[in-house]
Amino acid sequence: MNLQELKVAFVEAYGQESEAVYFAPGRVNLIGEHTDYNGGSVFPCALSFGAYLLMRPNNEKFVNFRSMNQPEVIKLGLNELTTPLEKTWVNYPLGVFAQFIKRGVEIKQGYDILIWGNVPNGAGLSSSAALEVVTAYALNDQLGTAFNRTVLAQISQKAEHEFAFVNCGIMDQFASANGAKDSAIHLNCDTLNFELVPVKLEGVKILISNTHSPHKLDSGAYNQRVAECKLAVEQINKVRPIKFLAELTEAEFKDVESAITDVTAHKRARHVVGEVQRTSDAVKALKAGDLVKFGQLMNASHVSLRDDYEVTGLHLDTMAEEAWKIDGVIGSRMTGGGFGGCTVSLVKDEAIDTFIDKVGTAYEAKTGLKPQFYIAEIGDGACKL
Ligand code: GLA
Repeated sequence: MNLQELKVAFVEAYGQESEAVYFAPGRVNLIGEHTDYNGGSVFPCALSFGAYLLMRPNNEKFVNFRSMNQPEVIKLGLNELTTPLEKTWVNYPLGVFAQFIKRGVEIKQGYDILIWGNVPNGAGLSSSAALEVVTAYALNDQLGTAFNRTVLAQISQKAEHEFAFVNCGIMDQFASANGAKDSAIHLNCDTLNFELVPVKLEGVKILISNTHSPHKLDSGAYNQRVAECKLAVEQINKVRPIKFLAELTEAEFKDVESAITDVTAHKRARHVVGEVQRTSDAVKALKAGDLVKFGQLMNASHVSLRDDYEVTGLHLDTMAEEAWKIDGVIGSRMTGGGFGGCTVSLVKDEAIDTFIDKVGTAYEAKTGLKPQFYIAEIGDGACKL
């Protein structure tokens, strides 16, 4: 599907041309996993694929939602934009409308909307954040509300909390809103200060491997992790006041860890504290051009997500562990929420074909699933086309 075809599809759906087209990308996180809702830092990049939204004010009192990816077509009155619907894709854009209204923005007329996304669904590459952010960006433009990109990310995150019931951190929506071509975003998720770090990889590609085992973020396992980290904070507070796990260095954690009596919460906290350190070390390594170090930190991140955070499983572990066997793989780890989805690997150009062949064959033999591989292009954040 290209832009021209989308424009034609809009006319077919609504009988008139769209007025504007917007885009927001998916993301891949290089390192810093499950740190965002713990006040830590993350290091994602926006991808060149994402969600497109075509829109036209319709002078009516209802909003029409359609997608080229989904069958349901939903028409909602302007007084029906603040309540989530039964499980449907429309909850993502609808949740964003609701957040604008909650912030006191008046939506005086309806819109015809057509969406198309090319982020593989369930791959952990933030198809839902792309959908939320593209809606937020489009509404901001149409309504002239002038929210900045960080606020648009926060609106989108709230939509995910209240309309998809996932208590996610800010990483995905922030990366989709603030991404920049050929840069990764080093984001402090507590202060929301960020730095764009150029990703200049001479002779090395970022390879994404899709396990095709869908990551089930809404399954409750994600919210359970969020709750376990909260419990760890509460238990640590008996001996030292902290707001977030990420406030502790590894040495400080050693001093207080015995206060965490819940065995699971203790493991989760150990991952977070270690991952925060790895993320900061990895950013330094990248800036210094030390890819070997960066790769080692990626591998260590995967091991910690596997053993302490327990969000990997057979599919992600097989994909990463098979990758580690290939000469020319600098580092490989799961990316995103986990429980299926994708791994991200840094691979030397000359090893890409061998990687796809060997890792693909071994993965399929072990899991019975056919994987898919994409070379990531790092793109810009949300925009009007
Ligand atoms: C999902 C969430 C993010 C983040 C990652 C794990 O992608 O949406 O906020 O917590 O998982 O790093």
